[in-house]
Amino acid sequence: MSDKFKVLSEVIKNRRSIKPPKMNGKQIPDEQIWELLRLADWAPTHKITEPWRFLVYSGDKAKAFALEHAELYKNSISPENFKQDKYEKILGNGKNVSHIVVTYLKRSFNVDIPEIEEIAAVAAAIENILLGATAIGIAGFWSTGGMTHKNEMKKFLKIADEDIVMGILYFGYTDGFHDGKRIIPLSEKVTWNK
Ligand SMILES: Cc1cc2nc3c(=O)[nH]c(=O)nc-3n(C[C@H](O)[C@H](O)[C@H](O)COP(=O)(O)O)c2cc1C
Repeated sequence: MSDKFKVLSEVIKNRRSIKPPKMNGKQIPDEQIWELLRLADWAPTHKITEPWRFLVYSGDKAKAFALEHAELYKNSISPENFKQDKYEKILGNGKNVSHIVVTYLKRSFNVDIPEIEEIAAVAAAIENILLGATAIGIAGFWSTGGMTHKNEMKKFLKIADEDIVMGILYFGYTDGFHDGKRIIPLSEKVTWNK
């Protein structure tokens, strides 16, 4: 295999989901986040609709976003169903994080593309970001927890009803090593016809 393949395959296999509690609070230079967004912009996109959009929160704004997210949760639920540990978990995601990138799908109506293809394109853009982050030693976590998929989140972000929040991406640095696992053997996922 070529050297390029070896480098790429190492990055792909070493990418791990590392949650904010495992981050160490150090700040990522903004320019590095821009570099990751430039990678996202090269994801495949049917009919070049480029549906990915990013709302970046850095420094104090990242902490403020986590607080707003926790408050959105609190205000969306009846006091009987409110869970303090869930509130704390959402809030805690702002603690050691450096940048938060809310990624959403901007739906275009001037091109006839099924929604599934736009979702696929934005997911590919997110993977580009996560792989780029791995390559430069940044820990990342793609979350769809909390209020990610709720209408209240769309309203808070001021995005259109037809748009889709694809994930809240948390970035920072981590000190530890994080192992990955897959349970189903690849051979069970592949049907090879010859
Ligand atoms: C679309 C998507 C949404 C995810 N949302 C969450 C989430 O809300 N909470 C969570 O703990 N992990 C979430 N994850 C991360 C997965 O838990 C993680 O990818 C899985 O455990 C495999 O670990 P790895 O990414 O280190 O290989 C999400 C992953 C994807 C692809």
